[in-house]
Amino acid sequence: MKIIEVIGNQTLSGQIRIGGAKNSAVALIPACILGSDDITLTNVPDITDIDVLCKTLEYLGVSVKRASQSLVINSSNMENRNIPQELSGKLRASYYFMSSLLAKYKHVEMHFPGGCSIGSRPIDQTLKVYKALGATVKEEGDLFTIDANELIGSHIELDMPSVGATVNALIVSCIAKGETIITNAAKEPEISDLIDMLNSMGANIKGAGTSTLTIDGVEVLGGCCHNVIPDRIEAGTYVILGCLVGNYLTIDNINPDHIKSLTDKLYEMGCDLEINSDNIVVNKSENYKSINIETKGYPGYATDLQQPLVALLTQCNGVSKVNETIYENRYMNVPELNKMGANITVDGRIATINGKTPLKGCEVNATDLRGGACLLLAGLAAEGKTTIKNAHYILRGYEEIAEKLANCGAKITILEVAD
Ligand code: EPU
Repeated sequence: MKIIEVIGNQTLSGQIRIGGAKNSAVALIPACILGSDDITLTNVPDITDIDVLCKTLEYLGVSVKRASQSLVINSSNMENRNIPQELSGKLRASYYFMSSLLAKYKHVEMHFPGGCSIGSRPIDQTLKVYKALGATVKEEGDLFTIDANELIGSHIELDMPSVGATVNALIVSCIAKGETIITNAAKEPEISDLIDMLNSMGANIKGAGTSTLTIDGVEVLGGCCHNVIPDRIEAGTYVILGCLVGNYLTIDNINPDHIKSLTDKLYEMGCDLEINSDNIVVNKSENYKSINIETKGYPGYATDLQQPLVALLTQCNGVSKVNETIYENRYMNVPELNKMGANITVDGRIATINGKTPLKGCEVNATDLRGGACLLLAGLAAEGKTTIKNAHYILRGYEEIAEKLANCGAKITILEVAD
């Protein structure tokens, strides 16, 4: 098991360079197999989720050349093989291959995708898209077999603006026959990034950043070079950390517009932020005010920054309330945070954080990616040593986390220990 040990309460100064967005890269990579030529991706984050997707590509016979933060993908010799559950069960984004294989071969068999257990995370909206385009879906336990004679464009209204269903709809429809219109689509920047890449490959997709996407199917897609957008969740996590322990901590290579819903809330709390065109400089302040947040789809407050923010809310004076509207099980970090000295109660979707309470280092357990990040932030702000077990969750989404933090003065070590 991987563990992270930190000695807290050290001031962090210097620069943290943000990598490419995990949730973009994990959609771009499966979409690459639609292209007939080389696709070069740059600014690809060096995280374990990308390792799994590269293994999946190789399993399908796709050529993958990986250098630091770049990938060259060529699928001219690929085969349509059933992706084993050991790979698809490791992350949610594996089901983007369901769409690219279906689009390319009109037949796919795949198990229910993996991902953090933060809620039930059904895939009904994606199946609705496949059916609307003319595919048949057979479900046996958690095995899905999807077939189509041909895929024909259609008008699909999503029941909710699901990121995954929007990605799948884009991938499956861009080489379908005729026009597809997706309404109530997700507007996340990672969706716009995917649209940019598909259009560079020759797709014809309009409406990026809006809730209506129009896809005019084309026969073939070619190659392209694409630079992955910066990771707004990694950026937001470190901005929050700067509010806890920063002294001129610069979070660099970011698009501050993508985390405006966070920085607006931080200003409301009284945080000291200097927002520039591609970086934010953060200083710790005293006497933060309590606030309330409600998680929403973009441009609302991101659910992925809910758990990291809770670490900071423990240091606000008064009662803060969080309403987690996206995932029903995204408070597994709370009992662990309470062990460190927080005073948080959870009632259904609402968490009530009673601040301010001092945090003390202890042994805690990461139960999911962003919950793990929350514990790491708390550990870096706490007195003494914090040991985070099951740290592999954190490494799924934060590249070179120990190096980036140690460069700014954090005392952090990642260790491998027997389970
Ligand atoms: N939903 C359904 N049916 C569906 C799809 C979604 O009911 O067919 C529900 C979900 O249960 C959830 C809500 O709709 O309550 C939103 O789910 P969505 O499909 O938007 O999420 P996702 O695609 O599974 C992606 C990110 C998550 C991020 C969410 C929301 C990836 C690989 N994952 O998940 O990222 O929380 O969008 O922004 O892009 C993370 O990075 O830690 C992470 C969990």
